[in-house]
Amino acid sequence: GEMGGCPMGQGDGGVRALLGRTNKDWWPEMLATEILNPNGATNPYGEDFNYAEAFKQLDYDALKADLKALMTDSQPWWPADYGHYGPFFIRMAWHAAGTYRTADGRGGANSGQQRFAPLDSWPDNGNLDKARRLLWPIKQKYGKNISWADLFILAGNVAIEDMGGPVFGFGGGRADVFEPERDIYWGSEDKWVNEGVQTRIAPEHGMHELEGPLAAIQMGLIYVNPEGPGGNPDPLQSARDMRATFERMAMDSEETVALTAGGHTFGKAHGNGDPSKLGAAPAGSDLAAQGFGWVSSNESGCGEHTVTSGIEGSWVNTPTQWSENYFRLLLDYEYELVKSPAGAQQWQPINQKEEDMAPAAWDPNKKVPTMMTTADMALKMDPEFRKISEKFRNDHEAFKDAFARAWFKLTHRDMGPKCRYLGPEVPEEDLIWQDPIPAGRMPSDAEVAAVKAKIADSGLTVSQLVKTAWASASTYRKSDHRGGANGARVRLAPQKDWDVNEPAELRKVLDTLEGLRGNLSMADTIVLGGVVALEKAGAGDVPFLGGRGDASQEQTDVDSFAVMEPQADAFRNYLPKKLSVKTEEMMLDRASLLGLSVPEMTVLIGGLRVLGANHGERGHGHLTKRPGKLTNDFFVHLLDMTNVWKAVEGTDDEEYVATDRTSGGETWRASRADLVFGSNSELRAVCEVYAEAGGQERFVKDFVAAWTKVMNADRFDVEQKDKLD
Ligand code: HEM
Repeated sequence: GEMGGCPMGQGDGGVRALLGRTNKDWWPEMLATEILNPNGATNPYGEDFNYAEAFKQLDYDALKADLKALMTDSQPWWPADYGHYGPFFIRMAWHAAGTYRTADGRGGANSGQQRFAPLDSWPDNGNLDKARRLLWPIKQKYGKNISWADLFILAGNVAIEDMGGPVFGFGGGRADVFEPERDIYWGSEDKWVNEGVQTRIAPEHGMHELEGPLAAIQMGLIYVNPEGPGGNPDPLQSARDMRATFERMAMDSEETVALTAGGHTFGKAHGNGDPSKLGAAPAGSDLAAQGFGWVSSNESGCGEHTVTSGIEGSWVNTPTQWSENYFRLLLDYEYELVKSPAGAQQWQPINQKEEDMAPAAWDPNKKVPTMMTTADMALKMDPEFRKISEKFRNDHEAFKDAFARAWFKLTHRDMGPKCRYLGPEVPEEDLIWQDPIPAGRMPSDAEVAAVKAKIADSGLTVSQLVKTAWASASTYRKSDHRGGANGARVRLAPQKDWDVNEPAELRKVLDTLEGLRGNLSMADTIVLGGVVALEKAGAGDVPFLGGRGDASQEQTDVDSFAVMEPQADAFRNYLPKKLSVKTEEMMLDRASLLGLSVPEMTVLIGGLRVLGANHGERGHGHLTKRPGKLTNDFFVHLLDMTNVWKAVEGTDDEEYVATDRTSGGETWRASRADLVFGSNSELRAVCEVYAEAGGQERFVKDFVAAWTKVMNADRFDVEQKDKLD
């Protein structure tokens, strides 16, 4: 099937709610702080807090030195294995970044979500609460100059460096948020992994592909079950699951092998005791535990008695030092399936030589066998992974380079354009997954005016110009800061060929704009086309911020953009095929990725309809007799009691027709995405504001502001305050 291409894919074919299971379902008792935060959590640093500015005040070298010292400063309440916390911090950073998924760009390390439920309590994040708490004195010392989100990743980097591993670089700039993300779908299952819940890929049950947009194989996992699919220690099936999940975070097989092997060159797994002696996860734990979860009554409950995954042992004989030992031990030994003291399935080298055994984490004088998880065994047993493993074993420099680059990608993939990276360790090299865009040039007012006049005289219609500008800008998603009008990728593969963009029509408009743009970039000209259209439609003066650059096809990874193709777009009334998520919920999802508020979404839908932005010739929701004029007609007619609405048969409640209550004659047609604005009481309340006396003026003003916000959403190259005026 399509790789993550269908963000709301069929999965098991059923219908699901947009958000699936949420914190309130898992922890009904959770304190409802959101009643104080109706518009999202207030930033305690103040509304005007600018993290980039704060980061620039940071003494970066001092912070790194403190992190380095922390690595070997073992604390009695959570003693360090082998006297070094490095591996623990690498796992923390990897799990912070590893929730990223390409289909909607959500997850990832960029807002410090590991501090909040559900992530802080996922079984796979077991005991990482301790890793974060170990960092507190450093977070406390540097305060607002370093975010938790940056600290998680930097701690991972410093750990790798301190243990002699290769590091490609670090970019800061992940601003913390102060509440759990509420817009993300983590799955619909009502049980965690290891509670007998079905895995998400189960060919024997006809489930061949992960449900979109998910990128983990079971609820509560970052990726795959280390013991094998559903606990079945089958390395080949584990390889299948690894491919499916790593692919969803844009990692190919080589990156997958490099990351896993590089990570497991360090540290150990914890399963030396009875897993039933673990207490509740942080979100459900006792007040007195002060945010700690998994409080263990297994002897000391920490140190050598720690139970985390349940698997026990280190992968290599040198667990706090970068080495070539992972592939050597994996490939040179035969392995047998054994059980850990906690009862987990794991693999142990047969007839391991004394010198290849690892020191016990608590007694350097004692030797214990190393181990591999079923997922590690996939790197040995799966033919494709095996080839890569052998290549890396024979070429250690290639392994180092691949690990360093994959780690950098893993931990920076969700930060968006490189201009968002901060600090002295930002690598010079441009990387294709950063979606590079050449720097733009700010056009002069005279240049802009000249091109504006040419667009106005070009014969392009309001509808054509609006559609093109919207197609260009509306790919933006605030989740991973990808997409948007900058770069003008709408003229490149794959976007130029997306059905939602009406390729043939788009081509015509782009060719015309290309012919008249003079020295303006195409990216600017497309947005300027929208300005001309809005002004023609009666919007008054519409602001324009130039300075965008044009990306080339070589700077555009077609596969990585393919996952961004909309399967539905309510803003253009586009729905080629019914999805497993309701059309109006898909609309909400897109609006959320665009960073819109409810009024912004509402005003945009109403305005786009009357301007003629619908896909193709579709007349649905076109509730006006004055097309191409920026009027509040959509809202007026939607709320008009003259109309009686009825679902059109055979459309599965996707299309509706209105008739005149008295005459019975057909008046309008509309989609679900249109009618939800009259049906949902909160959306209706906003529509009323735009339909009532004074509504027309407010509508035009708000539409222009929301439109401009979308056009400039990706302008990280300019200051926030310049974007809207
Ligand atoms: C630890 C599984 C990929 C880095 C662990 C543990 C498991 C595991 C079961 C033991 C946790 C515990 O009991 O304490 C997996 C699986 C992976 C994977 C199934 C993918 C298929 C990675 C990657 C990295 C990584 C990509 C980093 C690049 C680590 C490190 C530890 C660890 C450093 C040791 C933590 C410590 O010593 O406390 N992993 N892992 N793993 N993992 Fe992975």
